[in-house]
Amino acid sequence: MKLVFATNNQNKMKELQLLLGEKVELLSLADINCNEEIPEDYETLEENATQKAEYIYKKYNVNCFADDTGLEIKSLNGEPGVYSARYAGEDKDATANMKKALEKLEGEKDRSARFRTVISLFLNDNEYQFEGIVNGNILDSQRGKDGFGYDPIFEPEGYSVSFAEMEVSEKNRISHRGLAVQKLVQFLLEYNA
Ligand code: IMP
Repeated sequence: MKLVFATNNQNKMKELQLLLGEKVELLSLADINCNEEIPEDYETLEENATQKAEYIYKKYNVNCFADDTGLEIKSLNGEPGVYSARYAGEDKDATANMKKALEKLEGEKDRSARFRTVISLFLNDNEYQFEGIVNGNILDSQRGKDGFGYDPIFEPEGYSVSFAEMEVSEKNRISHRGLAVQKLVQFLLEYNA
């Protein structure tokens, strides 16, 4: 089965191709010659994921899924949430985003947070959604060199390393996106059967 993943993020393509194995041939936006900015106008992960997947499905006439992820910090009332990519400004600077989160948390005892991913799949005229959540804590400073986004300041529950200190395969097994994708994969296998 061919499926478009509505992203240009090579880190995510790599993570997901590992998870999907050979059952699904994953195509990127570049593979279908989609070069335009995909609209993302809403204030919830659910609505944004739907909007992105529906846009590609309708315009390019291909089965497609899109994900939307937010880091939700409890003591900041769920910030940065749907604004995670642009928390510190339009240039989507991961270092500046982490700095802003750490500054806002200064002196805060409750550093609990979670990553939440919503995947919207448009498949043969139906939409299906899958959610993945990983709970954890925001560290006092950055740790580790791997990963992307907020990985260096997020320590998943039950671990004493940050996401940026983990092997990609281990992160995939327990992460928000990994869990949402595992649900997607399960669904696709049953759908194909
Ligand atoms: P997106 O919806 O997947 O593009 O994610 C929005 C933003 O959330 C990204 O720009 C990152 O800042 C952050 N983010 C998403 N997934 C991860 C992750 O696995 N680790 C760290 N940060 C992430």
